[in-house]
Amino acid sequence: MELENQVIIVTGGASGIGREACLALAKKGADLIVADFNLAGAEAVAGEVQALGRKAHAFKVDVSKADEVKALVDFAVERLGTLNGMFNNAGIGLVKPFLEMEPADYLKVIEVDQHSVYYGLLYGARKMVELGVKGAFVNTASIYGSVAARGSFNYNAAKAAVVSMSRSGALELAEHGIRVVGVAPGFIDTPILGDDPAAKAPLAIQHMHNRLIQPEKVASVVAFLFTDAASAVNGSTVAVDDGFLSFKV
Ligand SMILES: NC(=O)c1ccc[n+]([C@@H]2O[C@H](COP(=O)([O-])OP(=O)(O)OC[C@H]3O[C@@H](n4cnc5c(N)ncnc54)[C@H](O)[C@@H]3O)[C@@H](O)[C@H]2O)c1
Repeated sequence: MELENQVIIVTGGASGIGREACLALAKKGADLIVADFNLAGAEAVAGEVQALGRKAHAFKVDVSKADEVKALVDFAVERLGTLNGMFNNAGIGLVKPFLEMEPADYLKVIEVDQHSVYYGLLYGARKMVELGVKGAFVNTASIYGSVAARGSFNYNAAKAAVVSMSRSGALELAEHGIRVVGVAPGFIDTPILGDDPAAKAPLAIQHMHNRLIQPEKVASVVAFLFTDAASAVNGSTVAVDDGFLSFKV
């Protein structure tokens, strides 16, 4: 139980990678705040965490709103007494060719995928420093933070910023005993990819095993990154991409 009684917030906890991360963290002994825009989904996952014998509360949040992320951090401490970590993971995609992408389409993704990570780091770290807690942040970036994808000008920009903020955040917070790392998933089999098998097949072949990655495979790395065994991983973004960034199809 490497994370026994550690209090960790997971955003986007209702689905996909976030849900699996909640379960993986709970299995290591953590108590969770399952935060999501989708409250019913967050409540269901909180129930699954409780069934594993850990404490869990659901919280409805729009991570693109600074005041809501601050309220989320306050809620965690109010309900569970402290804050040891935060998985800034909630995100969306909005794919459009660049010439058709309006500023609103660009800003929507920047606000949800990028600014959310800044708010999580800012309010989470302020609270940890106030409490005198040493802890860790994990931020969900993407392979698309490193390579361009057609129709993803907004998403590429946001995820590259998450890679950068993981570095800068680590540098700023190291003196407080707080680590910040990124995780860069490849194509993970979650609802964000849609449900058209024909659209998923060309994604699968971009992995060395020629299949989509299951969200548990990202969650297990995320849970590890919160533990002391990962204390020397700091500022970097760890790819969980089954080789995507290492070969050309
Ligand atoms: N699935 C992939 O292939 C893949 C690849 C690389 C990176 N990612 C990233 O992983 C993260 C998790 O995605 P996933 O694949 O699990 O998708 P998902 O759609 O299953 O889960 C995303 C969750 O985030 C929540 N969410 C969306 N906007 C929100 C907001 N404004 N406030 C609060 N919650 C919000 C959704 O309700 C949902 O529960 C995202 O940041 C995504 O960009 C996913």
